[in-house]
Amino acid sequence: MSAPAPVSAPVPFLDLAAATAEIAEELQEAAARVIASGWYVGGPELEAFEADWAAFCGAAHCTGTANGLDALVLGLRALGVGPGDGVIVPSNTYIASWLAISAVGATPVPVEPDPATHNIDPDRIAAAIGPDVAAIMPVHLYGQPADMDAVLGIARAHGLKVIEDAAQAHGATWRDRRIGAHGDLVCWSFYPGKNLGALGDAGAVTTDDPALAERVRRLGNYGSARKYEHETRGLNSRLDPIQAAMLRVKLVHLPDWTARRRARAAQYLDGLAGLPLGLPQVDPRADPVWHLFVVTHDDRAGLARALADRGVATLIHYPQPPHMQGAYADMGLAPGALPHARDMAERVLSLPMGPHLSPRDCDRVIAALHDALG
Ligand SMILES: Cc1ncc(COP(=O)(O)O)c(C=O)c1O
Repeated sequence: MSAPAPVSAPVPFLDLAAATAEIAEELQEAAARVIASGWYVGGPELEAFEADWAAFCGAAHCTGTANGLDALVLGLRALGVGPGDGVIVPSNTYIASWLAISAVGATPVPVEPDPATHNIDPDRIAAAIGPDVAAIMPVHLYGQPADMDAVLGIARAHGLKVIEDAAQAHGATWRDRRIGAHGDLVCWSFYPGKNLGALGDAGAVTTDDPALAERVRRLGNYGSARKYEHETRGLNSRLDPIQAAMLRVKLVHLPDWTARRRARAAQYLDGLAGLPLGLPQVDPRADPVWHLFVVTHDDRAGLARALADRGVATLIHYPQPPHMQGAYADMGLAPGALPHARDMAERVLSLPMGPHLSPRDCDRVIAALHDALG
């Protein structure tokens, strides 16, 4: 790749401090409200966020959890998934999707992605359904909804539950309907770097099913619906009111931040067309929220270096798929057992993306890529 051109200030991958600074006063007011309220677990602030988030997602119910991994664990347990069950899950997801399945004693049944969208390949799901499979966990990776028509159709035909990992898809739509209640349960992460992020860990589960919502809530509250009465062996996994207050403030800004992400994605797609680079492909039925803007290149390391030399920060999501991690060595899957997941991990590169990526900085990333690849 050619020699770097001089650069001015580097383009960061994601500027969380800028996002917080823009609304610092609102956040401080909300924090002060919680501090004065005396409600530090549960209470009105949490209930208000749960109602706001359910309404935003078009779901009847929302239950806050301590983080996104717990949202998946509680969701699986609420669905009755446990030891002896298999759960279909993408081979190229963040490891938390797999860890949740393992945490309830079930087994991940990996299905390879469609290399065009990076989402679970619907054509491969049916072949993976054995007698033990109880559920499908589509992951709306990088902010683009998975093919929910196919997932729901297959699940219905085989009597399987659908639990969505929506940790990266706040506000994304499938057929003009926001992700939030297509499947039986939808699990969210509000990790700080997510499109809607708390100032710490937080998560939630949304659903249209009141009985499932109640089970998630009980399981996250020591298995208890009434104080000191414990029907099941639950966890302590609740969304803190102080984080609920932060999320309520940020939710008001989410549509604007999403619009900015979409504008930058359009700028990238336009400015990078024609380069020898794999660009993200969008299913026409999906409207992604661009949690990440992921390109592919055969010499990913060389490209990342060339961009760094030109002042552009990049990251890799994810450098190793779950089946190649030590955590899953006991499954005995060779790297080539899931070749798409392995190949994607070697070729994906995430470009700077976020509501605070300015049009000018986005142009600088595009120029750096032309310079590096031209
Ligand atoms: C796809 C996916 N699933 C699950 C999680 C877990 O969420 P958390 O970090 O809030 O536990 C994350 C984020 O970290 C994620 O990206």
